[in-house]
Amino acid sequence: MDFVGARSAVLAVLRGVSAGDRSRLLHWMRTTNDFDEFMLSNNDVVLRSIAEDLRNCLPIEAMLNSEHLAIKKILDQREPTVHVDAFLYDDDIIDSLCEKGKMSRNYCVVCGSHKTAPLEFISHSFSLMELKFLYQYALPDLTGKILVDVGSRLGAVLFGGYLYSSASQLYGVEMNSDFCQLQEMIITKYQFTDRVKVLHSDICTQASLLQNADVVVMNNVFEYFLDRLEQARAWEFISHNMRKKGSLLVTVPSLEESISNLQTDILLSQWVEEMKLDYDVYMEKDIDREALEQIHLYKII
Ligand SMILES: C[S@@+](CC[C@H](N)C(=O)[O-])C[C@H]1O[C@@H](n2cnc3c(N)ncnc32)[C@H](O)[C@@H]1O
Repeated sequence: MDFVGARSAVLAVLRGVSAGDRSRLLHWMRTTNDFDEFMLSNNDVVLRSIAEDLRNCLPIEAMLNSEHLAIKKILDQREPTVHVDAFLYDDDIIDSLCEKGKMSRNYCVVCGSHKTAPLEFISHSFSLMELKFLYQYALPDLTGKILVDVGSRLGAVLFGGYLYSSASQLYGVEMNSDFCQLQEMIITKYQFTDRVKVLHSDICTQASLLQNADVVVMNNVFEYFLDRLEQARAWEFISHNMRKKGSLLVTVPSLEESISNLQTDILLSQWVEEMKLDYDVYMEKDIDREALEQIHLYKII
């Protein structure tokens, strides 16, 4: 049966169900795990295997001593905050680590008592769910297109793009050499070399890459890793060089929020037009709607 036939069959079932049971059926369809076996594609399995390889190479907090500023910024947060990399650790893995006492979702408010409060989690990578939303719903068909991930870190956006899109080239630019080496290890092991390239570089030296890109992805790139002057300079560099009309820019959080506390000469209304995303199209279980709503898509005008 093809898609159109299958959709008609599902709608026929819904119409045929007695009025009293229809809402129960819809509730079951929205919440059941019975569809999991159909949802977990081979590509998901490959990405989970990559995440496992990377977990084995990194400390549990998935941050490196070479990231002084990022570590300091996390320690300086008002609420106690830990970095839990969402590409490496999904909720099930976090639960099992919490059970083993290797990770905690809470911190003790009064030391020694049972009074606890939830820890803030931040992630420096997209989760599998966010990657699938990005490539399967947010972005158009990328056949023949060039995608650049600014600050590619563990390579989640590149590997997701290799598996879930037909982009002809996926470039990662990462200033931390340790993370570049980890990405290279995965690219070689999983034979992604034909379409994925990682450049160990500051994005502010990559003008022509930005000028030629069809899609640029910027997931929380600068806030934790650069001081405010450097952030402003980097955003200006991006806005001066990403000028190809019709090319797409994905940001987390929104551009407005990203540059709101910085002194820049960027006039958003003369640079980009926001393309509203439908966050309801994503039907899989365990949706973190709040995380999806942080993803914004813009077209260069
Ligand atoms: C939050 S991570 C993004 C991870 C990845 N793009 C993803 O979505 O899974 C940001 C990364 O950007 C890198 N970075 C920050 N400023 C950069 C710059 N100016 N040039 C290149 N990389 C940069 C950091 O080292 C860090 O690894």
